[in-house]
Amino acid sequence: MLKLALLLLLLLCFSFSCSNAKNQPFAIRISCGARQNVYTSPTNALWLKDFGYTGGKPANSSPSAITPPLHTLRYFPLSDGPENCYTINNIPNGHYSVRIFFGLLSEPNFENEPLFDVSVEGTLVYSLKSGWTTVDEQSFAEAILFISDKSVSTCFHSTGHGDPTILSIEILQIDENAYNFGQEWDKRTILRTSKRLSCGAGKPAFDEDYIGDQWGGDRFWKNIAVFDSISNIRISTEEAIAKASVAPNFYPKKLYQSAIVSTDNEPDLSYSTEVDPNKNYSIWLHFAEIDYRDAGEGKRVFDILINGDVAFRDVDVYKISGGLYAALVLNKTVAVNGRTLTITLHPTKGNSAIVNAIEIFEVIAMEFKSSVIEVRALQTLKGALGLPLRFGWNGDPCVPQQHPWSGVDCQFDERSSSWVIDGLGLDNQGLKGFLPDDIANLKHLQNINLSGNSIHGSIPYSIGAITELESLDLSYNMLNGSIPESLGQLTMLHTLDLNGNLLSGRVPAALGGRPLHRASFNFTGNAGLCGIPGLPSCGPHLSAGSKAGIAFGIILIFLLIVVFSICMWKRRQNILRAQKLAARDAPYAKARTHFVRDVQMTRTYGSDQARVATESGPHLLS
Ligand SMILES: *[C@@H]1O[C@H](CO)[C@@H](O)[C@H](O)[C@H]1NC(C)=O
Ligand SMILES: *[C@@H]1O[C@H](CO)[C@@H](O)[C@H](O)[C@H]1NC(C)=O
Ligand SMILES: *[C@@H]1O[C@H](CO)[C@@H](O)[C@H](O)[C@H]1NC(C)=O
Ligand SMILES: *[C@@H]1O[C@H](CO)[C@@H](O)[C@H](O)[C@H]1NC(C)=O
Ligand SMILES: *[C@@H]1O[C@H](CO)[C@@H](O)[C@H](O)[C@H]1NC(C)=O
Repeated sequence: MLKLALLLLLLLCFSFSCSNAKNQPFAIRISCGARQNVYTSPTNALWLKDFGYTGGKPANSSPSAITPPLHTLRYFPLSDGPENCYTINNIPNGHYSVRIFFGLLSEPNFENEPLFDVSVEGTLVYSLKSGWTTVDEQSFAEAILFISDKSVSTCFHSTGHGDPTILSIEILQIDENAYNFGQEWDKRTILRTSKRLSCGAGKPAFDEDYIGDQWGGDRFWKNIAVFDSISNIRISTEEAIAKASVAPNFYPKKLYQSAIVSTDNEPDLSYSTEVDPNKNYSIWLHFAEIDYRDAGEGKRVFDILINGDVAFRDVDVYKISGGLYAALVLNKTVAVNGRTLTITLHPTKGNSAIVNAIEIFEVIAMEFKSSVIEVRALQTLKGALGLPLRFGWNGDPCVPQQHPWSGVDCQFDERSSSWVIDGLGLDNQGLKGFLPDDIANLKHLQNINLSGNSIHGSIPYSIGAITELESLDLSYNMLNGSIPESLGQLTMLHTLDLNGNLLSGRVPAALGGRPLHRASFNFTGNAGLCGIPGLPSCGPHLSAGSKAGIAFGIILIFLLIVVFSICMWKRRQNILRAQKLAARDAPYAKARTHFVRDVQMTRTYGSDQARVATESGPHLLS
């Protein structure tokens, strides 16, 4: 009985936690620039106060039509570097919709809309287009992607057209299979929302207004009343819609309660939009027969053409969805070469077509990231060299490929499927720091040029472990100490410029022979390098001689000490003899002499000890 009760309890707990997990997608919303958490209507959504950013400045925003009602933003002046990011950690791995709203500074003299690039997880997803401030759906970028490293990095890349201004960032979990468009779809597929239209609707809305499922990611649906006011009309219904809010996409029912239908004037229903050329687009079309007057199987049948190619033949919404007021979703992924994407519904039976909603996504392959070890080494180097803020060096050093870090050369490593650093060019940048041992973790480096800075300290021994190094230019810095022996191990090294430093000591013998093999090594203008042709010799004879010199010096000092000690001993003997003679003449004077000497001694101690000594004085007298 008890066992059964326990089992029941366990089952209950299990089913509860399961349903709980399903009902509560992970969600983080950040109000950029906000010093306090913010709650917004109509759902009392929580927007966390600003965190996770690399730099920038908070400011007030001027509200726009569809953006969340937030009053602050964060902007990134170019002086903070061309790459700036928000990195949010502790995100459960999974499928997410990441949305970034852009803002406008509320300064009265602010006129220019900033244009910049947006990347998510190192992949460029969006470039702002001029005029975005006047188009609702262009005030945000949205990417649907998989997170596999428990962290989401969103970066903003300056393109020289004003400072990136970010209003909010949302990271909203969605179904693992959301927008799975078939064979070509996998965990490296990113879908960038290009258009989301609710056809025949009166006003734009988010899922939350439509009371959509939370697992839908709170999508924004732009309303479009008609495609072409002459030949088509909008219709709507209040009837409940079947099969709408189902996995994996959980569309709000409201989406299917309005539609655009064509009329006898022009039976084809056609929608055109401008797109970026030479990209793949995933198109999702939504249907529900909501026109009860003349509905039935075979009454409204149409072909669907995308840029003139038939994507679906003889679509009978009534028949496929199973009658009136039932949702049907069709998806098709196509390559688009031109700048226009046209979707045409061409009736084959009956004289009209119907469509309830349209979604268009740009299909983007996720970039591979840079080697984690090498990114960490670059971060250490950034700190050690005291790299100025203007360098940025935020996000991933190599991707997006359109925006690598300045001073860093990248190469794709097929073996590890990651980017590695093969060049470092930070010459003449006013760097004042030192070279950390970690530089050797950049083990794919072929070229290093740090010439013309004020780098001090020594050349790390570890540099000898960068086996592929071909060119090392550390000239005109303030490097001191000796050249590490390890540089001799660099068999590929053909250029070594260490001239104009404070280096001293012997040049490793292995480097001395190298210039013969058509390599170019330069050691001139240092504090005191020696040992190879062209430099003063620090030959074995001289060094043996100096050793002998040091030994001779030590013996001389020892002799001097002995002579001095003998003299002192002699003197003391003389004094003692004199005292003995004096004591014989006046016994009282002996003690007095001792006392005077003790007091003299105390004067050379610290004040505390002096007090103790003088206190003990009278004892001596008594
Ligand atoms: C999208 O279409 C493909 C076939 O083209 C299909 O396999 C897939 O299930 C569809 N996705 C959804 C979520 O309906
Ligand atoms: C479009 O998809 C095809 C097939 O999956 C692929 O070969 C091609 O590289 C893609 N084009 C772009 C621009 O992503
Ligand atoms: C390093 O940079 C300096 C200054 O820009 C340049 O003169 C020098 O040729 C570069 N060194 C190498 C090895 O390319
Ligand atoms: C090199 O210079 C640093 C100061 O920049 C000093 O602390 C260090 O002792 C010097 N090392 C040698 C070997 O002269
Ligand atoms: C080293 O470089 C300096 C400055 O560029 C030049 O004057 C000198 O001749 C070079 N020495 C050698 C050995 O190449």
